[in-house]
Amino acid sequence: MGIYLDNAATSYPKPQKVIESMTNFMMDIGATSGRGAYETAIQSDMLVYQVRKGITDLFHFNDVKKVIFTLNATESLNVALKGILNKGDHVITSSIEHNAVWRCLKTLERDIGITISVVSCSKEGFTNPFEVENAICEDTALVVFNHASNVLGTLQPIKEIGEICRKYEIPFLVDAAQTAGVYPIDVIDNNINLLAFTGHKGLLGPMGTGGLVINWKGDIKPIKSGGTGGDSTYEYQPDYYPNRLESGTLNVPGIVGLGEGIKYIQKVGVNKIYHKEKELLEYAFNQLHEIEGITVYGPQDSEKIIGVISFNLKDKSCDEVAYKLGRQFGIMIRAGLHCAPTAHEIIGTKTTGTCRIGIGYFNEKKDIDFLIEALQKINK
Ligand SMILES: Cc1ncc(COP(=O)(O)O)c(C=O)c1O
Repeated sequence: MGIYLDNAATSYPKPQKVIESMTNFMMDIGATSGRGAYETAIQSDMLVYQVRKGITDLFHFNDVKKVIFTLNATESLNVALKGILNKGDHVITSSIEHNAVWRCLKTLERDIGITISVVSCSKEGFTNPFEVENAICEDTALVVFNHASNVLGTLQPIKEIGEICRKYEIPFLVDAAQTAGVYPIDVIDNNINLLAFTGHKGLLGPMGTGGLVINWKGDIKPIKSGGTGGDSTYEYQPDYYPNRLESGTLNVPGIVGLGEGIKYIQKVGVNKIYHKEKELLEYAFNQLHEIEGITVYGPQDSEKIIGVISFNLKDKSCDEVAYKLGRQFGIMIRAGLHCAPTAHEIIGTKTTGTCRIGIGYFNEKKDIDFLIEALQKINK
């Protein structure tokens, strides 16, 4: 199969139980959730409820109804941003966001007239929370930050930013696409009002799963309307959760698989996953530095990042390096702008892009050894 080092895009492999649970659901249950009273429909309801509960436990939250299922982090962020922001609103964000946030904000700026303040971060991707406070104005309706950058891995000071948001009573939306499942997240302790997560990366679930945890009492206008299985004569989307933000038939097989991914994580422990990835990061940094002509971007400090490393080899394009790693050595990494052009402005790689390694829980030191050996050969 080769060596998979693209876990920042999606995690691979998935625990066997993730796959089995989805197949079992499709074969033995197969009913929709929230719509029927027969036995398999109720089983489907129970399974979905248990996954919502698993999510609240993982993120130390307490309201199962306020966990919304979506297709991915992008949809969760759209639900939150488009559901909260109105004409004339001001929003504060970082200069190192994924397009899932950035394009959504730019679209709202163009289409409904919001204003955006971008708090600039250091070359290593760190944001100073005080700059967030300085950017707050009367119209500030939301602060949105990624928890960790998908280009540099840099972790943002979300607890401190969350405290500032709480002080000014401004909702705080966190894009946890890169951290959910691989870094401890406590929604209450970290002062997070809205947590957008994806199911297919660190949570070890299938693609097509994700969600939004809502620890906030404000209104979120639904961006979709449709069937929920209840109150069918009411002509608008219901006001209560989760139905308010969930329209149409849920991806129950996917949600069941996600539930097994979360169970796996809880069994191993997020801290253990984090520490294993941290150890691999340190191992990789030590060896990468021995490659002649390499530029490694970001903090290069395993305490300050999650399992993502961006680099370039002198005189070689990132596409060429990634292509050769894949074709000649069976090593899978990503090359390009990683859907985060503003992050590349910070490190000066907007025209070149970077090679990106995404370390996952199932990687081992030997994977890094193979990568280093292959890079040495490509360098010759
Ligand atoms: C920081 C960040 N935000 C959002 C996303 C979007 O996630 P998804 O593709 O699951 O919608 C990604 C995916 O790479 C990401 O890294």
